[in-house]
This record gives sequence, structure tokens and C-alpha cells, in this order.
Amino acid sequence: MHLLLNTGGGDAPGLNAAIQAIVVSATRKGWKVTGCKNGYEGLVHPSSETLLPLNENIVKDISSLGGTILGTKNKGHPFNYPTAKGKPEDVSDVVVKNFKKHKFDALITIGGDGSMKLAQKFSEKGLPIIGAPKTIDFDLSKTDATIGFDTAVTIASEALERLRGTAKSHERIMILEVMGRLSGFIALHAGLSSLADVILIPEIDFNTQKIKMFLERKKKAGQKHALIIVAEGAKPQGGKLQTKPDLRLGGIGEKLADSLQKETGTEARAITLGHLQRGAPPTAYDRFLAIQLGVQAVLFAEKKLFGHMVALQSHQFTPVPFQEANLRKTVSLDSSLLQTTRHLNIFLGN
Ligand code: F6P
Repeated sequence: MHLLLNTGGGDAPGLNAAIQAIVVSATRKGWKVTGCKNGYEGLVHPSSETLLPLNENIVKDISSLGGTILGTKNKGHPFNYPTAKGKPEDVSDVVVKNFKKHKFDALITIGGDGSMKLAQKFSEKGLPIIGAPKTIDFDLSKTDATIGFDTAVTIASEALERLRGTAKSHERIMILEVMGRLSGFIALHAGLSSLADVILIPEIDFNTQKIKMFLERKKKAGQKHALIIVAEGAKPQGGKLQTKPDLRLGGIGEKLADSLQKETGTEARAITLGHLQRGAPPTAYDRFLAIQLGVQAVLFAEKKLFGHMVALQSHQFTPVPFQEANLRKTVSLDSSLLQTTRHLNIFLGN
């Protein structure tokens, strides 16, 4: 068996652990493994630089490194491939042709919803593909865990703990903006772990006046500082998503700090955690998860469970068809997580 392996979408801590586990377990079966650089780039432009033979020596000791040794891409996939002429082209048939030409038997793709959508499209074109779930955002359906989420939450929670001391000393409102696109899992899990005062997520539009009133009640009760965590995709009731000029999400923390400072008269500062959440070395849990998902992906390939992502469901590794796995997951409004949060008098903004 000759396995091809790629990583797609935003990088996430734990990818290298999955790569190491896949290479070690596959080579022990006597299989060949090749790494495809930058998503599908190795199949669009195959060369000795984009198709890398992998072995146990090459992947030795990479499991605790952040990023991905294979590189990745979250823009310009083969169905919409950027060209020098400016108009993107569909080069998916080139990918299929090169996959066959190089006699690969299976592709393991580690990625998030975008990668699972691509995997589905290439499966429909006949490629034998197994997926493994990776996203710091945890916004992938049908799996109880994704590579990178635990590290992102750990870093965000640590950041809140660091902000608490300075918030207290200066009697300020400190706002931490975290990633997550249109899902609030990072903000919610980190905010709950660090018992932030306010957690704002994309699933619940917030009301600035109500946040102000909540902070005033806290002040009357003797707490002069406040810790707020806000997801990049959170927005005020009746308001718009906050984006950068290139339409990336970002900036809601600063915006909120300005309005709360004006409304409450208390100094407010915003910090954007950004890629620090993604670039970190993986936590032990992310390595543990990635290693298991990697080995399971190899076992799925051996069983020819193509067209499926390896999902973790109730502690079991389960095959989920790509068309079910690639649906975006958001925080459910009747989840026990939100119930717990409310019982702790953590304000959710509405
Ligand atoms: O999907 C992962 C993620 O980190 C999101 O949380 C964030 O919105 C986005 O990627 C940032 O992407 P980029 O690194 O391209 O700015």
C-alpha cells in the first residue's frame, strides 16, 4: 500500500503528532508513505519538493512541535485554484490524474470542515480518502474531539489567568478576544475554565447596555475589575460582524472595550490572542488524541473505509461519511455548558 498524506486548512497544534503516528504505524505494516505539501499542492504541481517520501527517521521527535511539517493552505483549493491570469481555475482533474500516475493507493487528509468538503468532492471523483478531524475551533460535526482545540483552550484560559492580576491591580475591564470563526467553543470552554465574568459567543448576540448593568452590579458587590472573553465572531444585537479590511474576522474586542469604557467610566483594555492559540506546542491531550486518530486513520485505510472521517464518538473511533462530517457545529443553546455557565453567574451578554 502506498499512502499519501496531507494537512489542510489552518494549522493546529497536534498535526505533527498525527503525522508521526501515521508514518510509524503505516511503515510498520510495510507500507510506503508520501507527504503531499501544502494541502493538494503536491498533486497540482508534483515535484521532489512537493511530494516528500516519509519514514520513521524523518518524523522522529516531531510530535510535540507546533504547526505541520507538510505545510498547509486555507485558500485557493484545487476546485478554485488561483492562476497568474487572475481568474481561478478548476484543476481537480489534474489532482486525480497525478494521484493515479504516482500509483497512490489511499490519501489520508487531516483537516477541518473545508478539508472534509474537499475530501468529499475528491471521493466523488473516485479518490480513496480517509479524513482525520483537526480544527482549533471545534466546529466540526459528528466528533467529540478535534486536533488543536484543547491547546487553543489551554492557551486562552492561561491568558485569562494572566490578565486577572493586572485587571485587579488597575481596577480595569480586561477583554480577551479569541478565535473560533462563527462558533463559540474556544471562548466558552476557556471562559468557563477560568471563570471569566462575561463570555460572549457568536451564538448569542450581546447587549452592551446589559453587560454594563451586569458590571455595575458586580462593582456594587465589591468587584471593581472584570474579565471578559469574546469570540471573534460575536456581535452586538442588531449589529454586524467585526472584520478586518480583508474581511477576516477580528476587532470586536477593541470595539467592545471602547463602548464599555465610555458607558461605565471604567478603563477597558482589549487583547487579541490571535495565532498564539494556534502556533503553540500541543498539549498532552492534543498529542494523545492526534496519535490515536492517526493510527485509526491507517487502520481505516487498511479496512478500505474510504469516504469517511475518523470521528471520536463516546470514546469510540467511528467512521462518519464526509457529507455528515463536514457540517459546521455551533454551541447549542440548550447545551449543559451554557446551563453551567449561567448557574455560575457568568454573564452571556443577553
Ligand atoms: O479555523 C481556524 C482559524 O484559526 C479561525 O479560528 C480563524 O478565524 C482563522 O482560522 C484565521 O485564519 P488565518 O490564519 O488565515 O488568518
